Amino acid sequence: MILDPQAISPGAMYRFMIGIVLPRPIAFVSTIGSGGVLNVAPFSYFMPITNRPPLVGISINLRGGEHKDTLRNIRETGDFVVNAVSEPLLERVVKASGDWPREVDEFQLTGLTPVESDLVQSPRVGESPASLECRLHRVVELGDAFFTVGEIVRAHVAEDVLTDGRVDIAKLRPVGRLGEDGYSIVRDVVHHARPRAGPPSGGGG
Ligand SMILES: Cc1cc2nc3c(=O)[nH]c(=O)nc-3n(C[C@H](O)[C@H](O)[C@H](O)COP(=O)(O)O)c2cc1C
Repeated sequence: MILDPQAISPGAMYRFMIGIVLPRPIAFVSTIGSGGVLNVAPFSYFMPITNRPPLVGISINLRGGEHKDTLRNIRETGDFVVNAVSEPLLERVVKASGDWPREVDEFQLTGLTPVESDLVQSPRVGESPASLECRLHRVVELGDAFFTVGEIVRAHVAEDVLTDGRVDIAKLRPVGRLGEDGYSIVRDVVHHARPRAGPPSGGGG
């Protein structure tokens, strides 16, 4: 199959991209609006960007030509929290992704517990095994989307997903997003050490 992005609709391109770039990690992003309404929504166009400074990015699309609540809140407060999604959270994550009106508190709607963050106004999700408190670094407008970059200023990891002080993937059971309405849960992990041609570089990646 050969695909010409110019010849197909944005919707068809979207379905193709989410069917081929996978599994994608899910940022479950919690925010608060200036009026005090709490919000939480999943974003799988999500990536770590750099380690120093520690930046992460999420790509927030327009909805019917309007900004989504997450982007509005981030712009109002200048911060957000990225919460990790583990298997027990999946159903509530999907529920939070509905097009709920701005005045709906999505913590209440999903039965999730807002926990006060240490350094940012946005609350974190109490049920999530790991949360990254982020300050807005910048929003980059890219076509129909707003690539929202945050700097991690504090991280929280639940003790019960750690083994010897490290995140244990078997305990974390992270969820990835696939095409359509598919999700994958990481259960099979294979290990391959990288070949070393010299002294360790000390860098990541
Ligand atoms: C697993 C999953 C991943 C999603 N990823 C994105 C994404 O990367 N970007 C986006 O704009 N919307 C994404 N969505 C849709 C948003 O979650 C949805 O539009 C949500 O209502 C936005 O909420 P808000 O208006 O409270 O910000 C995703 C939905 C699901 C279920």
